[in-house]
Amino acid sequence: MDKSPRPSPANSRLAQQPTSYYAASICEVTRVAEILAVGEALERALALLQGGDVVAIPTETVYGLAGDATNGIGVARIFEAKGRPRFNPLIAHVADMAMAERIAVFDPLSRKLAQAFWPGPLTLVLPQRPGNGIHPLVTAGLDTIALRMPRGFGGDLIAKLGRPLAAPSANSSGKISATTAQAVMADLGDSIRLVVDGGATPVGLESTIVKAEGERLRLLRPGGVAAEDIEAVVGAELLRGHKAGIEAPGMLASHYAPGAAVRLNAGNVEEGEALLAFGDRRAEGWRRAVASLNLSVSGDLREAASNLFAYMQELDRSGARTIAVETIPFDGLGEAINDRLSRAAAPRDNIQPTP
Ligand code: TXA
Ligand code: MG
Repeated sequence: MDKSPRPSPANSRLAQQPTSYYAASICEVTRVAEILAVGEALERALALLQGGDVVAIPTETVYGLAGDATNGIGVARIFEAKGRPRFNPLIAHVADMAMAERIAVFDPLSRKLAQAFWPGPLTLVLPQRPGNGIHPLVTAGLDTIALRMPRGFGGDLIAKLGRPLAAPSANSSGKISATTAQAVMADLGDSIRLVVDGGATPVGLESTIVKAEGERLRLLRPGGVAAEDIEAVVGAELLRGHKAGIEAPGMLASHYAPGAAVRLNAGNVEEGEALLAFGDRRAEGWRRAVASLNLSVSGDLREAASNLFAYMQELDRSGARTIAVETIPFDGLGEAINDRLSRAAAPRDNIQPTP
C-alpha cells in the first residue's frame, strides 16, 4: 500500500504526468524571478499584471510588490508572496489626479496636499467613491482607501495599464522594506516572476501617510515627506497618534465585525444562520442556511481570500443572526483568512489592539 502523504492538489497534477512534463513543471515551481531594467520591462510587466500576476517595481520610496487593484486574484497573490499572516489594507497607486478622483472623494485639504506633493512619497487616506472597481481585499473591506501617486516607472506602468496598482513594500512579512532590486530578488525571487530594476530607490523609506479629520490632518505614519513640510503647506500642526478604533485597521481584535455574529469552524448549520462555506464538503444541515456562499468550491485559498470580504458583507446583508463559517485550513493564505475571521468573531466590546 502506498504510505506516501496525500499529494496536495498542486502536485497531484504533476504526479500524473509523464517524466518530461514533470521536469518542466518542476522548473516552473522552483522558478527564479527574471530581472529587467526599467527601460526594457514595461511590456513584460504589463502582460503579467493583465494576467492577474504580481510584479516587483521600483518607486521613489521603496520597491513595491504590485498587482492590479481591481483583480482579486492578483491582490491575493500579493499577500501570498509576502507570506502576510494578516490582510492589512494596501496602498492603491495611481497615475494621475483623474484616476485618483475616480477612486476616492477628496476634501479640500487632501487635494491641496496632492497638488503639493504628488507624484511623490505621500499617501492620503480618503473615503472611497462607491463603485470605484477597487477589489475589497485591497482595503481589507474598509470604506476608506490609501492613495498615492508614485514617481517614475510605477507611474508609467499604471498609466499604460489604465488601472490602479495595489502595492505594499516588496519584502516578505516581518522583513524590512527592499530598496534595491537585488534585495527583492534575495527575499522574494523564488515566489514571483519579475523584478523591475530601477537601481537604489532615492527616498529609501516608505511614504508618509496622512488622513483628514474634519479641518485637521492626522499623521498615521511618518515617512518620505517630512511632517514639517506638510504643516507648512496646510498652515497647521498635524495631529499625531492613533485615534483608537479608526486609524489602526486590522489592529483591533473586533475590527471588521459584521452585524451578524460569527461562528467559526462550524460543523453544522443552525436555524436562522447563514453559511460561509469552503471546499466541496458541506457542514451538516447546510440546506437550513438562510443564505450561503462558498469561498472556493475547489478549496483554492487564493480564490477564497479574494472572495472573503465581499462574501462576509453579502451574508451580513441577508439579515441572518449568525454567520456559520466552515473550517478553513491554515496553510498559505489560510492563516490570513483565519486571522480576519477570528477578528470578525471576537467579542464586540473588545477594542484592545492585538499585540
Ligand atoms: O512607500 C510606500 O508607501 C510603499 C510603496 C511601495 O508605495 N508602500 C507601503 O505599503 O509601504 P505597505 O502595505 O507596506 O503599508 C501600507 C500602510 C499600512 O500601514 C496600512 O495600515 C496603511 O498603509 N493603510 C492602508 N490603507 C489604509 C486605510 N484605509 N486607513 C488607514 N491606513 C491604511
Ligand atoms: Mg511594508
